[in-house]
Amino acid sequence: MQLGDLHLILDAIDEPVLLINTDRRIAHANAPAQTMFGESLRGGLVGQSFVRLVRNPDALKCVEQAFEEKARARADVQLLVPQTATYRLTAIYLDRENPVVAVTLKDVTPLLQAAQMRSDFVANVSHELRSPLTTMTGIIETLQGAARDDPQAQTRFLEIMQREAARMDRLIGDLLSLSRVESEERIRPTHQLDLIPVIAAVVATVRERPEGEDREFVFAPEFEECIVCGDADQLTQVFQNLLENACKYSKAGGKVTIHVEARKSAPRFTSAVWAVSVADEGEGIAEEHIPRLQERFYRIDSGRSRRVGGTGLGLAIVKHILNRHRGRLHIASAPGKGVCMTVLLPVPG
Ligand SMILES: Nc1ncnc2c1ncn2[C@@H]1O[C@H](COP(=O)(O)OP(=O)(O)O)[C@@H](O)[C@H]1O
Ligand SMILES: [Mg+2]
Repeated sequence: MQLGDLHLILDAIDEPVLLINTDRRIAHANAPAQTMFGESLRGGLVGQSFVRLVRNPDALKCVEQAFEEKARARADVQLLVPQTATYRLTAIYLDRENPVVAVTLKDVTPLLQAAQMRSDFVANVSHELRSPLTTMTGIIETLQGAARDDPQAQTRFLEIMQREAARMDRLIGDLLSLSRVESEERIRPTHQLDLIPVIAAVVATVRERPEGEDREFVFAPEFEECIVCGDADQLTQVFQNLLENACKYSKAGGKVTIHVEARKSAPRFTSAVWAVSVADEGEGIAEEHIPRLQERFYRIDSGRSRRVGGTGLGLAIVKHILNRHRGRLHIASAPGKGVCMTVLLPVPG
């Protein structure tokens, strides 16, 4: 094969590829490699020293190994160009008479992030399940020992066990919900329904719950109906989560206002949207927490969340349900001013 042909083939590859000579200088860089490194170098890449280009000892070691062993070497390396990212670098020894090493670079940052998220999730779930279990194991030991003949202590301990068991049950329920919603996220609901009675039913339910007892709910929609393509059970779950949060994280006696609005357009939507907001009069959320609230198990104050029966999964479930409905959740708040969570759903076309 002519060298020119080889260059043509390399240029047709989507990922950055560099050819490196025995003097460890760049012999060729395909178009993606030029885009990747190009801005940092004037006068092109060819002839530049590989070490100076990547500035990473592991990358260099990998290339040296390929030359020495006349084989393939691989390493995951952190490169700073164009931004800091982890690349899987493969160095392949190519030509016996005129030795050259081809270096391919694949950005594996998203893969690593996904793997990290999976392992964080398992660690979080285990921790959340283990703490009520530890409490219960301790109580069982006490009931068998010190509290064996103390009916008062037994009643108290059984109440705690009941609370902890209920907490595990809620967590498992939310985990199952999350996994179900995630598995059908790609299947968009096609059935049209009216959101007004869905929200009205949620208001009626939450009003009866302990957390809703001392709250005033304001829901006076200006529209006769509010049609979306949706799954009634899942949308009920969305508003239930938002209303429960509005009650649980604000002071007793506060007002919870649900407002329905039609908007001609909204960022990241190609159609008109329904905007349903749930606003409370609580202490609000500091700005730095807002981008992370929809992550699984992200809680501003986990002690408080646990005390009010939270699992830390509510808003993650809301996010996935809204993704399935091609909608999204917008969170606005300023400390001391309460929280306003707005559900945006496309108006069916
Ligand atoms: N209306 C609200 N006011 C203040 N903080 C809120 C509100 N809604 C949610 N949060 C914060 O977001 C966190 C995550 O909410 P969520 O995912 O529903 O989990 P949880 O099970 O803890 O309620 C809560 O722990 C709380 O810190
Ligand atoms: Mg919640």
